[in-house]
Amino acid sequence: MVSKTGKGQQIWGGRFAAQPSDIMQAINASIDVDRRLAREDIAGSRAHADMLAEQGIITEPDNQAIQSGLDLVLEELNEGNFPFRLEFEDIHMNIEARLQELIGDPARRLHTARSRNDQVVTDFRLWTRGALGEASALLARLQRTLVTVADRETETVMPGFTHLQVAQPVTLGHHMLAYVEMFERDRARLRDAAQRLNESPLGACALAGTGFPIDRDATAEALGFERPMANSLDAVSARDFALEALAALSIATTHLSRLAEEIVVWSSAQFGFVRLTDAWSTGSSIMPQKRNPDAAELIRAKASLVTGHYVALQGAIKGLPLAYAKDLQDDKRLTFEAFDTFVLCAQAMAGMVESAAFQRDRMRASAAQGFSTATDLADYLVRVLDMPFREAHHVTGRLVAVAEEAGIDLAELQLEQMQAVEARLTNDIFTVLSVEASTRSRQSYGGTSPLRVAEQVAQWRQRLNMEQE
Ligand code: ARG
Repeated sequence: MVSKTGKGQQIWGGRFAAQPSDIMQAINASIDVDRRLAREDIAGSRAHADMLAEQGIITEPDNQAIQSGLDLVLEELNEGNFPFRLEFEDIHMNIEARLQELIGDPARRLHTARSRNDQVVTDFRLWTRGALGEASALLARLQRTLVTVADRETETVMPGFTHLQVAQPVTLGHHMLAYVEMFERDRARLRDAAQRLNESPLGACALAGTGFPIDRDATAEALGFERPMANSLDAVSARDFALEALAALSIATTHLSRLAEEIVVWSSAQFGFVRLTDAWSTGSSIMPQKRNPDAAELIRAKASLVTGHYVALQGAIKGLPLAYAKDLQDDKRLTFEAFDTFVLCAQAMAGMVESAAFQRDRMRASAAQGFSTATDLADYLVRVLDMPFREAHHVTGRLVAVAEEAGIDLAELQLEQMQAVEARLTNDIFTVLSVEASTRSRQSYGGTSPLRVAEQVAQWRQRLNMEQE
């Protein structure tokens, strides 16, 4: 809770005779949101004060007082009794005001050769860097969960779909690993974003740099940045780092949403491919038989929220002249919410998949429906009877029509029925019509055969630092 202890003199209030109106304060204050930057703000202030003392801009005793004061502030934060106050607008002024209450005058020197403009974006880059790392770790956890399922289900046959119509049999392990690939690219995007943002804006000051002899390399290094940003106008106004992080999150959440959609479909009575545990299902208030995959549905919806926040931030940035404008204050709300949403979705997905019971019999039975081995039959005609593929496609189509007419599957046709369409066929044809034979045969690199999937599982286990089986 942010307390509202009344209106003291604003930190920037020197030239103002009157106080801001309540609504002005409400629209202007960001402390409810940027309080999450408290630790980053303290880190930035520590690096800044050390540098100021090193450069002889403030005295060492003042620096010592500031550092111990910041210790006290951190302690209050850790113990949950730091006073967040609306009248101090944001986290930067809240901490500075509190520091002044705790240590008095030396605190008034901390803001030398600094502005809230470089301060806020330094804090925000530090926060985003950390959040990107956490998001990536969560995805890695989900990947391990998927690889564990894939390892267990290398031989499990399920229908592969195009247009959500049965296409060809695939293995469940193969299907799971498709998501592992997607999440790997997502993690690379998050990593890229973290790497690119890792430059220090601190010392850009309000927008033009400063006349004080500051050492920007020193503060950059102290905060783990690669280097100071080379242009002060860019440093205080650039938010493409946040935009890029949200873009990467948006894509990753889109992938979560696709998997969520599969879970919704697969857990329906009509499919019955998967059963979610009680912990990951909800009931209906009126229909006692229901087990709803709410978490998956919510992930599907929340993917739009993350993308929406990306679009909202882009909208806030695209019309801004250099350098800082207050529009940029809402960058943090959007970014924090997007990360929070992503974290929840990634955790929910890992929990659901980890505990899901895949129904092998249902999957196999379903894989055999819809003439899913028709392509195998056509390939056989090419391979064994040396037919051109187009002709084989046509002959197979006629065999499918015969089976459909009889209301049976391809593998259930009598040899005579087949020979009526293609006289050269022998009993050998039945070796390719089962779903197992079909998946087993697809051994091209990247294909669905249990052999190839097991190889991929072994590689992923290594890449994701999992125990080797
Ligand atoms: N709370 C502000 C923000 O998040 C800090 C920067 C304020 N700068 C200014 N020129 N008013 O953007």
